[in-house]
Amino acid sequence: MTVADEKRRTPMPLKFDGGMTEEQADEWLAACRRFFQILAARKKRLFNRRVSIADLLSERQDNAAAYGFGEGTTMYDNVLVLSEVKVGRNTWIGPGCILDGSGGGLEIGDWCSISAGVQIYTHNTVNRSISLGEKPVDYASTKIGHGVYIGPNAIIQMGVTIGDRAVIGANSLVNRNIPPGAKAFGSPARIRGIDGSQLGSERGKT
Ligand SMILES: CC(C)(COP(=O)(O)OP(=O)(O)OC[C@H]1O[C@@H](n2cnc3c(N)ncnc32)[C@H](O)[C@@H]1OP(=O)(O)O)[C@@H](O)C(=O)NCCC(=O)NCCS
Repeated sequence: MTVADEKRRTPMPLKFDGGMTEEQADEWLAACRRFFQILAARKKRLFNRRVSIADLLSERQDNAAAYGFGEGTTMYDNVLVLSEVKVGRNTWIGPGCILDGSGGGLEIGDWCSISAGVQIYTHNTVNRSISLGEKPVDYASTKIGHGVYIGPNAIIQMGVTIGDRAVIGANSLVNRNIPPGAKAFGSPARIRGIDGSQLGSERGKT
């Protein structure tokens, strides 16, 4: 749809700054769309993937480096990063994550997988809300060790420590510390195995 088409559908009159006409705006829009189509075709050719406009304009490794994360770490553009967040090397941070270091710092180690949609917090506004603002926001730092796998859409509450090489299943709510090497999942997450024990194979899955 062009700007002119949009105006026909919109009851409110459109106002352009800088004296640009609708026709000129349409030309700019067409040029922008062509530009993004070229970038999208390149991304498809190089990586066989379709990404948002922001990820067309940026490289995941640069996004991570710009926030001071370690070498080899990558991060999609639409990740929300708040305040004090430290991430080590070779960690993969997927799309749609929230990394909140606003409450005293969030640390994530090397070689972690932070899957799509994972949210890791260092603050909590429950008490502030239910006291109608009389109580402050709660804060506590959160730490994710080295080699930790966190499955898609998991939520890690403030103050939690997850030990090295732990596995957190998809959709989990982690509200307690998880020791190194443990496998935990569920809402709330509970420990289901330690030191690489294979839940599935032990149970003789069919
Ligand atoms: C946590 C996880 C690694 C465990 O894998 P696993 O050791 O092979 O465990 P299994 O798949 O054999 O599951 C064992 C039992 O726990 C259940 N279970 C596994 N993961 C679960 C989860 N995240 N939430 C709830 N239940 C889960 C299984 O359904 C199974 O139950 P059953 O015995 O009643 O059938 C895995 O299930 C997981 O969540 N992986 C996420 C993978 C993913 O989404 N990857 C894409 C992005 S990288």
